[in-house]
Amino acid sequence: MQGYLNVLILLVCVFWCSFNADARTRKLTSTNSFLVGNYGARADGRTDDSQAFMKAWKAACASSGDVTVVIPQGTYYLGPVKFTGPCKNVHTITVNLQGTLKASTDLNKYDSGDDWVEFKFINGLRLTGGGTFDGQGSSAWGNAQCPKNKNCKSVMFVNLNDTIIYGMNSVNPKFFHIGVLQSNNFYASEMYIEASEDSPNTDGIHIERSSGVTIHDVFIGTGDDCISIGQGSIDILISNVTCGPGHGISVGSLGKYPNEEDVRGLVVRDSTIINTMNGVRIKTWQNSPSSSSATNITFENIIMKNVNNPIIIDQTYCPENLCDGETVPSRVSISDVYFKEINGTSVSQVAVTLNCSQGTPCQNIHLEDILLKYVGEELPTAVCAYADTYFSSPMLPLPCN
Ligand SMILES: *[C@@H]1O[C@H](CO)[C@@H](O)[C@H](O)[C@H]1NC(C)=O
Ligand SMILES: *[C@@H]1O[C@H](CO)[C@@H](O)[C@H](O)[C@H]1NC(C)=O
Ligand SMILES: *[C@@H]1O[C@H](CO)[C@@H](O)[C@H](O)[C@H]1NC(C)=O
Ligand SMILES: *[C@@H]1O[C@H](CO)[C@@H](O)[C@H](O)[C@H]1NC(C)=O
Ligand SMILES: *[C@@H]1O[C@H](CO)[C@@H](O)[C@H](O)[C@H]1NC(C)=O
Repeated sequence: MQGYLNVLILLVCVFWCSFNADARTRKLTSTNSFLVGNYGARADGRTDDSQAFMKAWKAACASSGDVTVVIPQGTYYLGPVKFTGPCKNVHTITVNLQGTLKASTDLNKYDSGDDWVEFKFINGLRLTGGGTFDGQGSSAWGNAQCPKNKNCKSVMFVNLNDTIIYGMNSVNPKFFHIGVLQSNNFYASEMYIEASEDSPNTDGIHIERSSGVTIHDVFIGTGDDCISIGQGSIDILISNVTCGPGHGISVGSLGKYPNEEDVRGLVVRDSTIINTMNGVRIKTWQNSPSSSSATNITFENIIMKNVNNPIIIDQTYCPENLCDGETVPSRVSISDVYFKEINGTSVSQVAVTLNCSQGTPCQNIHLEDILLKYVGEELPTAVCAYADTYFSSPMLPLPCN
């Protein structure tokens, strides 16, 4: 009898204790959501909600497990804000942005060198909800102060590991829309990025010193590069991008600063580029202060519609007469580049430009299944200099010799 009673007590305890544990987890889950409204956000589109956002973020970051900062629908006015980690006991931290964030237009607020919204030193960031970052850039475009004295980039992802972005809109930044810097394993999809064709320096996504970056299913129409892949970019996969207007998808510019890191392992595929200045491009500076390389790069299955320079390698880049007088050929060496299955129309007669460096000629450039028609009467042409190139025929334009 005593034995049965012990078993019964044990059973009761097992049920009771596990029920209690269940209740505890449920409680944890609900307290792991942090609504910005509970920290004082007004969402009236006028009051500066930066402090409230910071409080909600800090509470979430100091919590544990899988936590979520919730930004419901509404318009939130924000100055420069930094969502900074590390969040020690947090496994993933989700920012569920359903509303619209509007950037302060007071440029003095960006004096300290802060970009607008920065996510920094975080493992396991998730950005979801389909909300919008509105940089309110048009007031800044005219006076061009952002690129010169201030950092007014809209959304910066810096020093992050294991990030997933799903559904995010960026409109009218003061400078770049989105930057991905010093981050590993960064995955983004379903992004909508837009600014007018004449807005200056509004690059869509800029990637630099990062590895394992995947970007797909995005629309980008803007005033500068749709996507720019800067120094130190390793293993980058970009697919299903619709780009235009803008300056196209570009590697570079590389070789402007000393000690830049190499670029390698880039694939851009299954994309459409419409009404842009360039299609796919690799661009490096003349007079580069030190040497670096860009290698193992593939552009594949890309449709060009009314693109000015559909395929271009330009190693003679040096704007604003910076290279007047003595010019030294670019010291960035480019090799193992594949342009495959690229079809469509070129607005300029020179549909393919391979303008490599006299100092470090391009090695192992491949053009396969290229079919680019010139919108004018004549046949399109290809121009090459210092480029060790393999052409597969048939091809339009005809290969350069
Ligand atoms: C990200 O990973 C790198 C390499 O493992 C590590 O050095 C860095 O501290 C990590 N960053 C964060 C924010 O934990
Ligand atoms: C490409 O991305 C768009 C969103 O920009 C999406 O609607 C479409 O289904 C994607 N296409 C493929 C083949 O995945
Ligand atoms: C080239 O880059 C691709 C994509 O990152 C990678 O899978 C492949 O292994 C690289 N090839 C070489 C020879 O490094
Ligand atoms: C380009 O044209 C070739 C030949 O007509 C075709 O096989 C290929 O699928 C086309 N590619 C694209 C991206 O349209
Ligand atoms: C190609 O390079 C030459 C100098 O070698 C330069 O004069 C020319 O403008 C370049 N063309 C393009 C399209 O960049």
